[in-house]
This record gives sequence, structure tokens and C-alpha cells, in this order.
Amino acid sequence: MKFLVLHGPNLNLLGKREPGIYGTQTLENINSSLVELSSVLGCELSFFQSNSEGELIDNIQAAARECDGILINPAAYTHTSIAISDALSAVGIPCVEVHLSNIHRRETFRHSSMVAPVAVGQICGFGKDSYLLGLRALFNHVKNI
Ligand code: DQA
Repeated sequence: MKFLVLHGPNLNLLGKREPGIYGTQTLENINSSLVELSSVLGCELSFFQSNSEGELIDNIQAAARECDGILINPAAYTHTSIAISDALSAVGIPCVEVHLSNIHRRETFRHSSMVAPVAVGQICGFGKDSYLLGLRALFNHVKNI
């Protein structure tokens, strides 16, 4: 099994970016914890981060040919991007949405997700663990399809 881990805009700044909200883990820390978990589970991961909506969509489309599922933190595009939501439904491979922060206890504009209706599920509020829980959930989901 192979999964694409997609990180949206500004997540390259993790570690320095609003640590009170997003914690002190860097994106590299998160990715290496995911790699450790993937070897326990027995799956392969590829990673991509972009600040650009089009690049994220290109990678979602490419994943359909190469991957069994997508673990995605769409960051601010969560709340705005019909194009990312459309790309995820177009490719039709399972996706799990994750967020470091609990988007539902923050500003009202963060309460809605364009991605949630096309995702298998959403995990938020657990910092790095949101990604680790998300990978386990995606792996189990795909295994049981
Ligand atoms: C985020 C939450 C989003 O609302 C925000 O725009 C982000 C990060 C999170 O992981 O908590 O950039 O997706």
C-alpha cells in the first residue's frame, strides 16, 4: 500500500508558526514520525507540501495513478477550495483530512471544510498525533475495502 501525504499552505513554517496554536514540531518532524509509523504498519509514503492550490491539485491527480489513498492537511484551503474538493472526488481514492488544531473551536470561518464531504473522515486537534491517527485510520480503511 502506498499513500500520499499532502500538506497545504504555510505548513512549511511549522515549528516557528504560531507555536501556541500549531505546536513546536516542524514539518520534517511530522514527516519522520509518519515514516516510522509507516514501517510499523507496512506501507509506503510519499510527501508533498505546497503553498499553491494548483500544485496540490496536480499532486492529487497524480496520486490516483500511484497511490491507494491520500492523507491531507489542506490548511487554509480547507475552508475555501472547491477545486481541491473537486480533485479529491474526481480521483476517487480514499482520503483522510487532518488538522493540527481543533478547527471547530477556533474562528467561525474555520468551522466549515470543503474537504470533509469528500473525505472518509476528519481528525483534528491533536497536533502531530492528528497525522499519526489519520494514517492509521486511512491504512485500516484501505485494508478493509
Ligand atoms: C490547519 C487549520 C487551518 O484552519 C489553518 O488555515 C492552517 C492549519 C491545522 O492544521 O490546524 O493552516 O489546517
